[in-house]
Amino acid sequence: MEKAIAVVSGKGGVGKTTFSANAGLALKSLGSEVTLLDGDMSNSNLGLQLGFFQFPLGLQDALAGNIGLEKAVHSHPSGLRVVPSSVSLGYPKGSPNPFRLKRLLKEIRGVTLVDCPPGIGQDVQAIMRSCDDVIVITNPEIPAVTDALKAIQVARELGREPLGVVLNRTGDRYELRPEEVEAMCGVRVLGCVPEDRAVKRSIFNRNPVLYERPHSRSSVAFMEIAALLLGIEYKRPGMLRLRRLLRR
Ligand SMILES: Nc1ncnc2c1ncn2[C@@H]1O[C@H](COP(=O)(O)OP(=O)(O)O)[C@@H](O)[C@H]1O
Ligand SMILES: [Mg+2]
Repeated sequence: MEKAIAVVSGKGGVGKTTFSANAGLALKSLGSEVTLLDGDMSNSNLGLQLGFFQFPLGLQDALAGNIGLEKAVHSHPSGLRVVPSSVSLGYPKGSPNPFRLKRLLKEIRGVTLVDCPPGIGQDVQAIMRSCDDVIVITNPEIPAVTDALKAIQVARELGREPLGVVLNRTGDRYELRPEEVEAMCGVRVLGCVPEDRAVKRSIFNRNPVLYERPHSRSSVAFMEIAALLLGIEYKRPGMLRLRRLLRR
């Protein structure tokens, strides 16, 4: 797969950055070359989830043309290529120039996941325009799905029919079912990532959960979604419960 995918949500805090890091790792482990780009230049934290605290050069420098893209790419021990955005207040915020971003994305081989800011503002629209495809992340609750629907409508206006919706933090009684979300949004649900303490632990440890706990319920869900995106079959590892218990 050779494409750039914008990871959007509408509502904030639903799991875009967590999805970007883990779906990226899942795609990589299924054989794709993967680069993650932190498109949330106002409140960048993709780098933080991956353990990059101090990096002299990031996306803003590459977009400004001060450096070549390769200088902004950082390697995660998992083999993921990551282009973080500066967390410093002194850096330019707001919308990336879509033409420059598109030019940068063209230089990257394989799959690129662009972790977006929340909302459907100019910044998110610029990223959607620069990417080939869009994936929408939401929680299975009405306010989040309503915002996801707005993001889907904006994507369609920009000529990007979303690849699908990912339901994150599922597993409660009081939530919308995937069929209901599909009916509301008119887009297929790519998968459900359960509420999982292993995700919180992994963010605390600054590693994707799939890297740290590959047999956790959320990790298996990320693998299944990545396989669906690649159109390949993924067989769940056997004795998952036992593996989890032993790991604990
Ligand atoms: N599947 C999950 N299970 C448990 N907690 C989660 C899960 N996904 C996300 N979280 C929690 O939600 C927080 C926000 O997720 P994040 O990916 O940063 O959202 P966004 O990028 O959309 O703002 C994370 O810091 C984590 O604590
Ligand atoms: Mg985020």
